[in-house]
Amino acid sequence: MSRVLVLNGPNLGRLGSREPDVYGSADHARLVELCVATGRDLGLEVEVRQTDDEAELVGWLHEAADGRHPVLLNPAAFTHYSYALRDAAAQRTAPLIEIHLSNPHARESFRHLSVVSAVATGTIAGFGTTSYVLGLRALAADPAVTGD
Ligand code: DQA
Repeated sequence: MSRVLVLNGPNLGRLGSREPDVYGSADHARLVELCVATGRDLGLEVEVRQTDDEAELVGWLHEAADGRHPVLLNPAAFTHYSYALRDAAAQRTAPLIEIHLSNPHARESFRHLSVVSAVATGTIAGFGTTSYVLGLRALAADPAVTGD
């Protein structure tokens, strides 16, 4: 069973209470349940982590690269300016999908740039927690993950 890391960046631990009109009413624990259950259905072993710390997120991307683990990455605000995160994502050795709950392109102009997108396999944005479900489905259909 392929092991997938779902990595969530700053402020995503506050889902549920954080701007629910933008990010929805599900809290981070609910998002974890959704990802783990979806992974189980797809034959993926999913581990979800969240941090507000850039260095910790960079370290997790190094771990994924060394372990050849596929990643769903919601870099949150780091999306828009963290070259350190971008350089860590560029070291990926397996598919890495950039995930957003909201559609950053429909929001403030500073959110229109992602410094991560160019090194991701693809991006899924704008579907709330379903963005994660779609990301896991994309990984489960990827021969680089299934080995087919
Ligand atoms: C986000 C979008 C980012 O612009 C924002 O900084 C976030 C969450 C999303 O999932 O929609 O924290 O990544």
